Amino acid sequence: MASHALGRDIFGDEKNAGNLMSLDEAHELLNEWVPNERLRLHMKQVAAVMKAWALVKENADEQTALKWELAGLLHDADWEKYPGDHCRIIIEELERRNVDPDIIHCIASHGPRYFGVQPVSKMDKMIYAFDELSGFIHAAALIRPTRYEGMDVKSIQKKLRTPSFAAQVNRDDIADAFSRIEHSLDEVIQFVIDHQKSVQ
Ligand SMILES: [Fe+2]
Repeated sequence: MASHALGRDIFGDEKNAGNLMSLDEAHELLNEWVPNERLRLHMKQVAAVMKAWALVKENADEQTALKWELAGLLHDADWEKYPGDHCRIIIEELERRNVDPDIIHCIASHGPRYFGVQPVSKMDKMIYAFDELSGFIHAAALIRPTRYEGMDVKSIQKKLRTPSFAAQVNRDDIADAFSRIEHSLDEVIQFVIDHQKSVQ
């Protein structure tokens, strides 16, 4: 991926804190901006995992969990139509809609090597950890006759050590993401399997 450095560190406006888009509005944006079903599914999967993680692991309230979910749902919303400006376009759209700055920062920092923005909050760090891993686990599910059924952490770990499997998934990004959180790869892989398998 080419460099998509955003060239700034402040996203959104503090006065919009707590200003959350409704899920309906987010899905509407997604349907309009992302005709590619596979990419939409990726965002729904990351959203489901983010929401579940907030509720289960961070003891978040509903409002906070919705923030995590919205960040997941929208993080690649501009990828299909504006690959050369990925991230910048959706960020500007969310700023125009006066969306909570935490959500916008989370999206801006989901690929620090590309966008030049460091993950700061736990929400930022988790979307970075989930993003590549979620797609990788889905790729693994697609080649299994029983899909997610009976999938185990070990087989995913083994595939991660096999460079030719889902070669486009950057293992260095996954390692970097996990160096920033205190959760093991095993724990997060299991969580992703458990919480994205029913997403359609
Ligand atoms: Fe993504």
